Amino acid sequence: MPVSGDSPNDASLQPSESDLDEFNLFDPEIQQCPHGYYAKMQNEEGVFETDALGTPIYLVTRYEDVAACAMNTSLFSSRFDAGSMEGNSEYARRAQELYEQEGGFERVGTMLTVDPPEHTRYRRLVSQAFTPKAITSLEPTIRKLANQLIDQLISGTATGQSLDFVELFAVPLPVAVIAKALNVPDDRLSDFKRWSDASVAGIGTNISIDERLAADREVIEYQKYFADQLELRRKTPQNDILTDLVNAQIDNDDAEGFDSAPLNIAEMLSIIQQLLVAGNQTTTHLLGEMLLLLDEHPEQWARLAEDPLYGKDVADEALRLAAPTQGMFRVVSQDTQIGSTTLSAGSKVVLMYAAANRDPEIWEHPDTFQPGREGQAKHLSFGKGAHYCVGAGLARLEARIVAETLGERLSNIQVTNRSELRYIPSFVLRGPQRIDVVVSAKEAAGNG
Ligand code: HEM
Repeated sequence: MPVSGDSPNDASLQPSESDLDEFNLFDPEIQQCPHGYYAKMQNEEGVFETDALGTPIYLVTRYEDVAACAMNTSLFSSRFDAGSMEGNSEYARRAQELYEQEGGFERVGTMLTVDPPEHTRYRRLVSQAFTPKAITSLEPTIRKLANQLIDQLISGTATGQSLDFVELFAVPLPVAVIAKALNVPDDRLSDFKRWSDASVAGIGTNISIDERLAADREVIEYQKYFADQLELRRKTPQNDILTDLVNAQIDNDDAEGFDSAPLNIAEMLSIIQQLLVAGNQTTTHLLGEMLLLLDEHPEQWARLAEDPLYGKDVADEALRLAAPTQGMFRVVSQDTQIGSTTLSAGSKVVLMYAAANRDPEIWEHPDTFQPGREGQAKHLSFGKGAHYCVGAGLARLEARIVAETLGERLSNIQVTNRSELRYIPSFVLRGPQRIDVVVSAKEAAGNG
């Protein structure tokens, strides 16, 4: 295992003064190792103005500011998506035509892209389906899957060949878990993954209109599949999350300031799509980052192999250091100020969770990997306040079980392509593209 120092997660690679002037959120090279830039932004004004997309965007980087903005949903609105499918832009026009031609469902904003009190209605209804009990019941499935995928890694590397951990482990595990949660049969798993990828196409990257429309075609396919499934549940209820979503109700008396109507089909489709978008790539990236950090820190790997229950701390510290959702957009609803930066109504802001997680005001030696460190769970990788991640419990469960199972089953993992490691160049959903590994099984390991 290599000693730490040259990883793209290493913030010791501080950019020089002029580099920050050239900072571009969408530059794939900058996204290979952005942490030095974030540290510099934090050190200077705390809020960094950049001109990507032809309009100013303000990156909020200090922990206290990010947390305060996330808590203030009336000033920092999540309606950043409003109008993306409306208006006269070429994309909006062609997308509308496509949805009409193909019989797609109207795309409505739900949890991630609306504000309270509308948002409160969605969270109340979704919480009746995506319950802690439903999440806990997935534990045996996750453990079984993790063991099966490790079996494949072990037998694949028996020949001495390197295998891609992302492709063979970090991608299939979360996809299969969410598919199981949504009761999608195994033979639709590859479609399910394709729909999930199409749903995130264009988030945090600049892709062409044709590429966006190609992704929309797949989203329409997703809509049709799940619309049929929801209709089936309405006629014949099953013991699953989709049925609970169809049946979720709010008592009139509980609906303070918001509509108490149950979810309609377009809303359910939007919510399920958000479960895919928010849950798949993020968890894939977390599992990859956790593996890279363990490889960089042989002493932590050794401790995990000795005490697999240490996996919980390993997972949380990986979440802090390598936030899979680097940042989320907000729109400022009235003129305001963050520190010395003045923001006018309508300004676009990104709450930079990845930067906040390494704020030296909150953590000592913020760039080092120290599972179990004081205040570890304070990280903002799942956001904060009203929009706090619906799937945080599930993501933590998956990461903990994966860390535990790696520790139980393997005596060593070696990353063999560290010098060529590349990150997906999205500033929202950043994560390692490919991680080649050679694994060594523990002697007399169980086979799950
Ligand atoms: C490591 C994995 C994950 C990370 C890092 C992550 C991160 C986040 C973050 C930062 C937010 C807040 C967004 C904001 O501030 O506007 C969020 C919200 C959300 N997450 Fe996750 N997430 C993960 C896994 C999951 C999973 C597994 C699911 C579901 C299966 C999920 C579903 C959602 C949904 C539906 C929201 C929207 C909540 C709302 O707006 O009220 N996430 N997630």
